Parts: sequence; C-alpha cells; structure tokens
Amino acid sequence: MENITGKAVTHHNYLKTRLHLVNELKALAKNHSVIIEAPRRFGKTSVIKELIRQENAKPEEGKEFNMIFLELEGEETIEHFCFKFFRELLSLYHVRRHAERIGQFLGGAWNAVSSRIGKVGMLEVDIELREKTRQFNFAEWKEKISPLIAGLNSLEKSTIIVFDEFPDMLANFKNKGLSQEEYKTMVDLLTGWLRTLRQSSDSHRKYQFVFCGSVNLRKTLERLGISKRINDLESLSVPPLTVDEARVLVEALCGEYHIGIEPDGTGFLIEKIADGSPYYGQILIKALRDTRKHSFNDSAVRVVYEAMLRNGNHDLNHFHSRLEEYLTPFERETASNILLHLCRDACHEQQMYQAFFHERCSYEIFQDVVDRLIFEGYLTRDLADKNNLRFVSPLLKDWWACKKTGGF
Ligand SMILES: Nc1ncnc2c1ncn2[C@@H]1O[C@H](COP(=O)(O)OP(=O)(O)O)[C@@H](O)[C@H]1O
Ligand SMILES: [Mg+2]
Repeated sequence: MENITGKAVTHHNYLKTRLHLVNELKALAKNHSVIIEAPRRFGKTSVIKELIRQENAKPEEGKEFNMIFLELEGEETIEHFCFKFFRELLSLYHVRRHAERIGQFLGGAWNAVSSRIGKVGMLEVDIELREKTRQFNFAEWKEKISPLIAGLNSLEKSTIIVFDEFPDMLANFKNKGLSQEEYKTMVDLLTGWLRTLRQSSDSHRKYQFVFCGSVNLRKTLERLGISKRINDLESLSVPPLTVDEARVLVEALCGEYHIGIEPDGTGFLIEKIADGSPYYGQILIKALRDTRKHSFNDSAVRVVYEAMLRNGNHDLNHFHSRLEEYLTPFERETASNILLHLCRDACHEQQMYQAFFHERCSYEIFQDVVDRLIFEGYLTRDLADKNNLRFVSPLLKDWWACKKTGGF
C-alpha cells in the first residue's frame, strides 16, 4: 500500500477495511441516484475511482455499468459544465460503438460529426465540437444533452454519471460576479433540470447520477431555499476511521516502507488519527518516512509529530488556505475564534455562541461558519458527547493549537 497524500487512491492503495463503501455505492447506484456525503479528504473521490477501476478491470461481458466521471472543480460557467457533460456523453456512445446514434439523437446536422467520431475518435473532433457549440446557451444545451441522456436507456448496461466537486462548481458560478438572485436562478435551473432527468422514464431508467464534493451540497441548496431539488437522492456517508482501521492503515503503510515502530509509538499514532480521515494517517507516515529512519520508539515518534506540526506541514496547510480563500474576512475571523475555543475543550455550539459570539454576529452566520468548518473537515458534532462540537481529529487540533498559540 503506497503512501499517498492528496490524490484519490485505488486498488492496492485503497484501505481494505473501506472496500465495503465501494460495494455500498455500487448497490445503491443500481437503482438510485446518490449523494456521497463526507468532509474534505475523507475519501469520497476514492470510493468512486475505485468503483471505476473495478469495473474497468472486468472483462467486457462482466461489466455491470458504463461510467461517466466529470471532475468539475475548475468549471466556472454553466456552459462549460454542459460542454464537458456533452463531450463525455458523446465519448460514451463512441466507446460503446454506437457513434451512429449521436446523429439520430441530435438531428441530421450532427451526422457528419458522429461519423467522424466513429472513424477518428473523440480527441480529433474536439476543436470541431467546440466550434459547433460555441454559441450555445443553457436552453440549447439542454436540447442537445437531454436526448443523449434518454438514449442511455437503449444501451445494454446501466450508466452511472458522476459529478465530482459539483457543489464547488456551483460556488464558482457565484464568484463569477452574479447577483444573489441570478445565482439562485442559475442553480435552480441546473439542479431542476438534473432532477427532471432523474424523474423521466422512471420505471425503465438505465442511468443514475452520483454527486459529491467538498462543499456541502445540501446546505448550499437549503440556503437558496431549493433543497427539494435533491430530496430524491440516496445518501452514502464515508465515515471516520475506527481505531481498528487506523491500526490496519498504520501497519500496512509501515510494512510497505519497512518502518518499525515500538507498540507505544504505534498506539500514539493511532490515537492521533482514529476518528478522522485516512488522510491523517497518510501524512503522519509521510512525516516518519521523511526522516529516512526505519525504526522508531515512542519518543522518536512524538518528536517527528511535533516537528511536523511546528514546521507548517504542507499537507495540513491546505486546510488553512481554503479558509483564506473561501471565507469572507469576518467569517474567517469567526472561524478562527471558534477553532481556538475548541482547542481548549469540546463545547456545544449554542453555549459557545451565547458565551462568546452573540454580541458579534447573528446565530445564522455563526451556524453557517460552523457548518462550513464541519464540511471543510475541521470539526464534527460528537454524537457520543452530547453533540458537542470538537475537532475531527486530535492531529488537526494539535496542529491548529500549535499554529495559533504556539503549543498544544
Ligand atoms: N480508502 C482509502 N485508503 C487509503 N487512503 C485514503 C482512502 N480514502 C482516502 N484516503 C486518503 O485521503 C486522501 C484524499 O482522498 P480523496 O478520495 O481525494 O478524498 P475526498 O474526495 O473526500 O476529498 C487520499 O490522498 C489518501 O491520502
Ligand atoms: Mg474529492
């Protein structure tokens, strides 16, 4: 199992104890559209990528699904989204050797394009496609894409269409200078259309959607008052690591790199990463590997841990830079204060609000910031502890304390 910090993991690098998530996604996506819910870096993309890998590894007759995967983080307009979606649909018809259907579904003017795709492949016709669709507005895009989607019902296998980082894309739309009203209208149009696609041909529909991303889609739509747009989705949650899983992760990674740790040291690592995401285990092992040593006792592990926190670990810093990037200065200050209080102790959000924040901001804003910190992977509401807010993992708490107060 390779030590990977950041990009999605699959196959031998996918923690064995989590493979059940892939099976759960597969089972759900047979009959439902799905929303994968979990904070940043919990492994949402990895679940999908591992499902795609498993499907690709099967011989043709054993494959259960056609898979379309759209990475949407960088898409900034609804038209760009539509182009990407359209292109992937065409590509699927091509790969499934049904390029001729493209012309049938889209009308005679597309016959030439479809036969060229059939002959030379997608890449070769990219420029032509862009040229042909350059002026399309959303209404025209819908007209072109909808029949291609309906056409999926005529393929032999069911199709899963994945929109990764979908809510992040919606956030990009907003940053493009739209007013709140315009933004709401656009999100409503897009999610409303996708909803219609999911509802049409209900009984014999052979396609499902999977949504996920590092911004909370439910909250985004709730805030706009259009949460009903996704109330048909089945939810798959990617849970935090249990203590047993944390042990399996540490042992698998140490085995791969011939690292020996005395039991107390392993216990210390597990304590720091359990209840969080596998990502924290990965960055801790990375820190040990960076020392180029192969054996560690308990105190050596602690020294590496502290040095990692103090030296501004690159893999942790992105947690901070996202707050800098996505929150307004006031939200950022509120976030920073909330985190600082939680470095001392877990606390209920209402109590915290009453004690420290009620003179500074409304409860709505406070809650928004709390929700954002939860989805950014900083905080969780602890069901086992009166629903108190606390850091997702001790590692992140130690890092934040170190960063803001110089100690932990
Ligand atoms: N199943 C897993 N096994 C091992 N490491 C994982 C697993 N899932 C996530 N990770 C760790 O978390 C990082 C982020 O995973 P990713 O799937 O991109 O998360 P998300 O999409 O939720 O942000 C990976 O680079 C890896 O370090
Ligand atoms: Mg992801």
